[in-house]
Amino acid sequence: MIGISEKEKRYFIQTYKRLPLDISHGDGVHLISKDGTRYLDFFCGIGVNSLGHANEKIIAAVQNQVEKFSHLSNYFISDSQIEFAEKLIKYSNMKKLFLTNSGTETVEAALKAVRKKMGSAGIIYSMSGSFHGRTYGALSLTDQINYKKDFEPLLPKIGKIKFNEISDLRKKINENTSAVFLEFIQGEGGINVVSSEFVSALFELHNKYNFILVADSVQSGLGRTGKPFAFNHFNADPDIVLVAKSIGGGLPLGAMLVNENFENVFTYGTHGTTFGGNPVSCAAGKVVLEEVFENGLIESVGRLGNYFLSELNSLASLFPSIVKEIRGKGFMIGIELFSECYNLVELLMKRKVLVNCTNKKVLRILPPLIATKNDIDFFLYNFHEVLKKQ
Ligand SMILES: Cc1ncc(COP(=O)(O)O)c(C=O)c1O
Repeated sequence: MIGISEKEKRYFIQTYKRLPLDISHGDGVHLISKDGTRYLDFFCGIGVNSLGHANEKIIAAVQNQVEKFSHLSNYFISDSQIEFAEKLIKYSNMKKLFLTNSGTETVEAALKAVRKKMGSAGIIYSMSGSFHGRTYGALSLTDQINYKKDFEPLLPKIGKIKFNEISDLRKKINENTSAVFLEFIQGEGGINVVSSEFVSALFELHNKYNFILVADSVQSGLGRTGKPFAFNHFNADPDIVLVAKSIGGGLPLGAMLVNENFENVFTYGTHGTTFGGNPVSCAAGKVVLEEVFENGLIESVGRLGNYFLSELNSLASLFPSIVKEIRGKGFMIGIELFSECYNLVELLMKRKVLVNCTNKKVLRILPPLIATKNDIDFFLYNFHEVLKKQ
């Protein structure tokens, strides 16, 4: 009998370095392996499982929808899509939306919207250290050399601005700028928070040159930072907002949200997807929106996020030669170390805590939004123990 790890190697193109865990099921903030070990999941499926695992309300909503129909295609309207869209428009304060299946597809929709609105001549900018996805358009924006180097040529007329460098921003933006894509808190790049000075300069230039400002909130959206979107920490008002990851409660779903200037950007046939806005995903998504915005989760993340960050800062001050900086907002936290963090991820896993390492030296903590003070304290205790042994 060969194990699942060997089978994975036999059958799958090896694109993912998998964790050495054989998971049986999830339960709230925990993942349970087949040998019965419970792991505190502070990575939650790369920021997807905001309501934790096996959430009863999601199970009920999904079951109810599957029993009616699980797919119709976008030739039909479904109640599930409409109810979800109504809530997402309400809580995002945007005008209209286009539904997709993933983050990268949402970025593609925005790129097409930008080109359609602004024509082909202008430059579309993204930031150094950004991550927007792996399909060709999104990859063209993504600033991760290792993800791009074997896949050129990428899209033309894409430029890069140095993240948080106002002089570079001012040097590059002009009347030939079509759009700027910005993660207000960079996720994959290492939980880098944009500075309010950079945001002010960006909006000043936006008013002057009228380019399109796209907030990629795929990782930082929907309550994760203690506000609806990371840009709400800066009172910013983007033209287009992108969400995915947590929005489907673990099912594939994404949305491009636009303001009134873009409500007619696409017309019949100019953009589409077979599965986008799948009724089952939308049924789960509606539960996510209710829990986050109507049942108090966002407030709890704001409160507990402050506690978590302040405790982490205290802990970091005890280990100044190991921990370089704590960054983030709410439940989107990065702990930058002076050296690579893969061994800490392993040591934490041995202590039944799951976190991730991004950009080599940044421990990325993305707890489910349902995490309690006890869960945070469990993490803090184990992190302290691991640091003591460095
Ligand atoms: C900010 C951001 N945009 C886009 C994406 C791409 O999303 P997906 O992996 O669902 O295609 C990600 C994924 O990590 C992301 O963090």
